[in-house]
Amino acid sequence: MKEKNIIELIDLTKTYTVGDQKLTVLSIPHLAIAPREWISITGQSGSGKTTLLHILGCLDVPTTGTYLLNDINTTTLNTADQTAIRNKTIGFIFQRFHLLATLTAAENIALPLHYAGLSTQLITERVNEMLTLVGLQARKDHYPHQLSGGQQQRIAIARALVTKPTLILADEPTGSLDSNTGQEILKFLKELHATYPITIVLITHDPEVARYGTRQLHIKDGSLI
Ligand SMILES: Nc1ncnc2c1ncn2[C@@H]1O[C@H](COP(=O)(O)OP(=O)(O)O)[C@@H](O)[C@H]1O
Ligand SMILES: [Mg+2]
Repeated sequence: MKEKNIIELIDLTKTYTVGDQKLTVLSIPHLAIAPREWISITGQSGSGKTTLLHILGCLDVPTTGTYLLNDINTTTLNTADQTAIRNKTIGFIFQRFHLLATLTAAENIALPLHYAGLSTQLITERVNEMLTLVGLQARKDHYPHQLSGGQQQRIAIARALVTKPTLILADEPTGSLDSNTGQEILKFLKELHATYPITIVLITHDPEVARYGTRQLHIKDGSLI
């Protein structure tokens, strides 16, 4: 039997209207992503990478077309259902980590679980599990400004994984790190990808970073090639 896709895009477009100008910034006739793939998408600035990732993350909706996530047509869901599916299925990793400055490392990791309404005991267990996974138990009470860039990104990865998502969306995850630290983070993601049943979609302008993917796509003027 053919394995189900985790993601399928059909006749997808995104158009922005600015003033009296209509600008189609994304146009994808078809894209299917199977579970456990690691898709790298490269493209120049302005090519539509972030727009695509936001749509995949249910943070934005396409103008036309269909986005199936685990066979669920996300385009017809209301906002509450989109949020629910996002919290359950997807973990995000950003270029600038997006950790909350007023929360400790452990508290940042715990945040998605508070939204999910888990018990305090279960949250503590899961956070400790994640801290161990990213090798930062000793830094759990540190605030983001007391951590290096690489450590902050590890905490952000722990936060992305704490809900046990099946899809990881990463937007230039090494873009704010020096090249050695960036490589370290990528090797760590590679280990995670080999160990856990996760699918990764990673966007980057850097061909070296893209090489970590199991499949590489390129986006130009909103079209995948
Ligand atoms: N809210 C918006 N309104 C109008 N145009 C936008 C908006 N967001 C993005 N764009 C345009 O869409 C194109 C793709 O943007 P983006 O997806 O951020 O590119 P990338 O992440 O590859 O740099 C760009 O030309 C950008 O100017
Ligand atoms: Mg971008």
